[in-house]
Amino acid sequence: MIKMNLQYAHVSDAFAGYQAEVSKYHHQIIDKTGLGNDFLGWYTLPFDYDKAEFELVKKLAKDIREKAEVFIVCGIGGSYLGSRAAIEMVQGIFPKRDVEVYFVGNTFSSTYILQLMDKIKDKSVYVNVISKSGTTTETAIAFRLFEQFLVEKYGVEGSRERIIATTDKAKGTLKNLATQKGYQTLSIPDDVGGRYSVLTSVGLLPIAVAGLDIDAMMQGARDAAETHKSELIEENPAYQYAVSRRILEAKGKNIELFVAYETQLSMLAEWWKQLFGESEGKEDKGLFPASVNFSTDLHSMGQFVQEGSKDLFETLILVEKPNLDRAFPSDADDYDNMNYLAGKTLDEVNKNAALGTLQAHHDEGGIPNILITLPDMSAYSFGYLAQFMFIACGMSVYLLGVNPFNQPGVEVYKKNMFRLLGKK
Ligand code: PA5
Repeated sequence: MIKMNLQYAHVSDAFAGYQAEVSKYHHQIIDKTGLGNDFLGWYTLPFDYDKAEFELVKKLAKDIREKAEVFIVCGIGGSYLGSRAAIEMVQGIFPKRDVEVYFVGNTFSSTYILQLMDKIKDKSVYVNVISKSGTTTETAIAFRLFEQFLVEKYGVEGSRERIIATTDKAKGTLKNLATQKGYQTLSIPDDVGGRYSVLTSVGLLPIAVAGLDIDAMMQGARDAAETHKSELIEENPAYQYAVSRRILEAKGKNIELFVAYETQLSMLAEWWKQLFGESEGKEDKGLFPASVNFSTDLHSMGQFVQEGSKDLFETLILVEKPNLDRAFPSDADDYDNMNYLAGKTLDEVNKNAALGTLQAHHDEGGIPNILITLPDMSAYSFGYLAQFMFIACGMSVYLLGVNPFNQPGVEVYKKNMFRLLGKK
């Protein structure tokens, strides 16, 4: 399913030296004895997820798809990036869909929030507020605004059936609010942290409302979990990726550049950056995760990658089969001199750009490349890739010696912001 090609990364010779450590952490993941062991639920989630809740998600999604024109997802970080990444990956940037899906609660930008509110004011609107902690300020601000928007539009009773709160099953401000107001709730398992939660109700409801096949997505995740259960690096591509990152870091590569050649993978890159960045950037350690969307960004960042400082490597996600493709047309006059492409498909051009760039960056620029190939951009492939990345990330961060499942540094800006805003 996922094909790893490490020939341009020059790491395989060093794998053996990591096997003992990988085996140790492999057992810590399975036995749930590693750092942050209360948050290792994602490892078995594709098998032991709450089936009743999953059916409830499908039922809610069906109702919403019948009644809504607009579905607002209100959440930040792990509470929105996964669903947005999945939806865009599978459906593209200009999907034909009965329900428009918009994301709020991920910014304080007043223009963004108010412009959206104005845009949807005459539509049938449902809101899914998502927060594991239940206290995140960006989310709480947007939710209060959209909750009042619904109350003004539909009254208290009418708005109640249009709001779904996804949060902790027992505690937190959002849970209390939802209970008080009688909102439908979905819950996030205790042992799955925000950035590992796309395969829980956090991601499932928005993804299902958008019309993706969440059964296929979970099947993909299960197959990835099965395929990547060996402790042996040579048998486990997720561990190969995990170890390759550490080997490249040891060679002085401090930046990992996630590269995709499909515009619809831009949010996947954002999701990936959060997963790896928030999991490993602590205790003065970690690779800085950056992303580019080629060939677009070859015209902005290509120069730097080719000839700039040599402290980065690329992780290139290639997709074998695009959602859509067509042959480039011939033109009788050929004033633009483009007839040399006539008959080739647009995707062939894209693939050749990828190959040419790989050769330029690796052969001439000296940039190591980890190549990950996906067959397509289906819901199944998203589920598979998500589980692959969780396994790779958990292992890679354990190899760094830090807890992959906390994010203590995120609190610092909040403390300052609350002080400045006079929060008691
Ligand atoms: O990975 C994480 O835990 C975080 O990035 C959270 O997803 C993010 O901060 C949002 O938190 P919450 O869901 O509690 O609102």
